[in-house]
Amino acid sequence: MTDVAIVGAGYVGVPLAQVFAEAGRSVLLVDRDAARVDQLNRGESYIEDVPSETLKRLVDERGLRATTDYDELRDCDAILIALPTPLSKQREPDLSIVQGAVEEIARRLRPGHLVVLESTTYPGTTREEVLPRLEATGLKVGEDFHLAFSPERVDPGREDWTTKNVPKVVGGITDACTERAAALYSGPVDTVHRVTSPEAAELTKLLENIFRSVNIALVNELAQLCDRLGIDVWEVVDAAATKPFGFMSFKPGPGLGGHCIPIDPFYLTWKAREYGFYTEFIELAGKVNENMPYYCRSLISQALNHGREKSLKGSQVLVLGVAYKPGIGDMRESPALKLIELLQNAGAHVSYHDPHVPELPDFALTSVALETEPYDCVAIVTDHPGIDYEALVDDGAVIVDFRNATGERGRLSDRVWKL
Ligand SMILES: NC(=O)c1ccc[n+]([C@@H]2O[C@H](COP(=O)([O-])OP(=O)(O)OC[C@H]3O[C@@H](n4cnc5c(N)ncnc54)[C@H](O)[C@@H]3O)[C@@H](O)[C@H]2O)c1
Repeated sequence: MTDVAIVGAGYVGVPLAQVFAEAGRSVLLVDRDAARVDQLNRGESYIEDVPSETLKRLVDERGLRATTDYDELRDCDAILIALPTPLSKQREPDLSIVQGAVEEIARRLRPGHLVVLESTTYPGTTREEVLPRLEATGLKVGEDFHLAFSPERVDPGREDWTTKNVPKVVGGITDACTERAAALYSGPVDTVHRVTSPEAAELTKLLENIFRSVNIALVNELAQLCDRLGIDVWEVVDAAATKPFGFMSFKPGPGLGGHCIPIDPFYLTWKAREYGFYTEFIELAGKVNENMPYYCRSLISQALNHGREKSLKGSQVLVLGVAYKPGIGDMRESPALKLIELLQNAGAHVSYHDPHVPELPDFALTSVALETEPYDCVAIVTDHPGIDYEALVDDGAVIVDFRNATGERGRLSDRVWKL
């Protein structure tokens, strides 16, 4: 018997597998991608948060395994679902991956199984989408099998707060379900926080991400006002952050990125409509944040006008950093993609440098060396560590800095335009 199966070996699934395996549990990762499964079984990690040395040790010494075969779920005690929950083209929840996987699980469901959905989703998903598919087998929740929701709160690339030490919120369909899921996580994860229903757990995760989206939108709007007022928004945010209570610092930037913040809030918007309710904070934040790449394009245009007496059309622009956040190569929903598209549409010749992203196949671009020649402008979109941004200022390049990466040196230079 295997203690824990994790369906979906991605940014969430692989670190989760590590946490259980390090706590001495036997772990099986199930993924439909055969190449990923082979890599995992060789101990080669494609998830930056889990280094290959760690994975190899867990494979060799703790028996961590991966498979494409759902049949192996029959011999597992607990089945955790960590599959993508994207939006459709119409920006509505697309649960097809989770629904398909739950049907596969249902075919192998047996008495004694615990199933936990970890994917981010709207309140009601576990009860309305997962439960009926599992109970269609004739097995009864809370008696024959247990079902709960427990959101994953991992922040890829982060080292201080990890899957192990971020408290795990758990809400089961019945009290017995909550207790069974809480028992599974207690130990491998440092702290478990129980709530009274899967809906409360589902909405908890959305509240966290909506909180970020709304607050980022607030500083993004303020950054645009600051440009007109001639005030440095970074200085204001840093100063406000000296208040020890009642303020939390969020930074402006070129737009939202990643699998979560740009997407998850709209899961709630969609669900709220079913109840005739309009989530206006979410919509407004989405509007402000989605406009940021357009605003950033206009800043690049201004910098070229004033710094080079050139138009965007025909200019050579180096985009520095394209991943959606520093230190990792994750490109999902990265605002750099939108900005590059906008710059190219305006006739600019775009190159990019990113130590974590060797190529951008959608644009047929590969990462170039970090040099200020022959570029008319360097746009700092993602402030990866290990790059000497101040040296770029000293080089005399025209720089548009969306991350305050050039700091004080950038503020004092008349060739640096800051968000
Ligand atoms: N990435 C994050 O930072 C993060 C943080 C918290 C929560 N979440 C949520 O966790 C969930 C998973 O996200 P992720 O980032 O780990 O996704 P991911 O894209 O990194 O990984 C998903 C994995 O599932 C596999 N897969 C797809 N369909 C499958 C199927 N039918 N059967 C088996 N495997 C299948 C893919 O091959 C991939 O390996 C999402 O709901 C996401 O919103 C993500």
